[in-house]
Amino acid sequence: MDTFSTSPPSRNYDLLANWYDLLAAIWSGGAIRAARLWCAGHLDPEQDVLVVGPGTGEDVADISSRGAHVVIIDLSKKMLEATLARCRQKGGLAPEVIQGDFRTEHSIKNQDAVLAPFVLNVFPSDELPHIIAQLQDYTSDGGRILISDFAPPANFLPSRLLMELWHGIPMAIFHLFTGSAWHLIHNIPAAVEQAGMVIVERKRFRVFGIGPTWIEAIVVKMRDTV
Ligand SMILES: C[S@@+](CC[C@H](N)C(=O)[O-])C[C@H]1O[C@@H](n2cnc3c(N)ncnc32)[C@H](O)[C@@H]1O
Repeated sequence: MDTFSTSPPSRNYDLLANWYDLLAAIWSGGAIRAARLWCAGHLDPEQDVLVVGPGTGEDVADISSRGAHVVIIDLSKKMLEATLARCRQKGGLAPEVIQGDFRTEHSIKNQDAVLAPFVLNVFPSDELPHIIAQLQDYTSDGGRILISDFAPPANFLPSRLLMELWHGIPMAIFHLFTGSAWHLIHNIPAAVEQAGMVIVERKRFRVFGIGPTWIEAIVVKMRDTV
């Protein structure tokens, strides 16, 4: 019997839509933006692409301006509106929009690529396998999942503690404000490998361009399609 239960949907992202990019820039010194745009840069034109939790969608505007057919799904109406405004500004195809919880949206299939930019961190660790399975479900055979998020925790204890502190401050704020999960830093590369996937490309990003490489983007495929 499946005893897994889905954590409650996050709230209040509408109130963050005008501030989110500024907060991310202040906290990461551009690393969050660089990682999500690195993933976008890996997509080919004219692909079918699903973006879960696009936020304000700079990466979506980039992908759709290069001719991809993009579906975006987010709980927040304001985030979706911000993404659409960006896409209009940049030109290109308008994305298909779904306002809802990507964990329970089962109509989407066969995407060439699924992007999860800074979204897995919203959920508790024990939900990760189910979320990764859901992302796999959206992806076509041979398709790719591109994830940008916090890099896995360092092995060296002092570095790990500093990293947890850096991750913990915004997590505490988001936990109180949006109801996102309270957790230690996920080991996303380990979770995707446990889910039968292989990392085919990865890149670390330095905080403020010169600091520690605490942000990472990965491109993953099913093991038997590599
Ligand atoms: C931390 S923000 C990430 C935003 C952006 N992708 C980025 O790269 O910074 C999380 C985004 O995921 C959305 N979100 C959170 N939980 C969701 C869910 N269960 N289904 C769909 N969207 C969700 C939020 O509304 C928000 O836009």
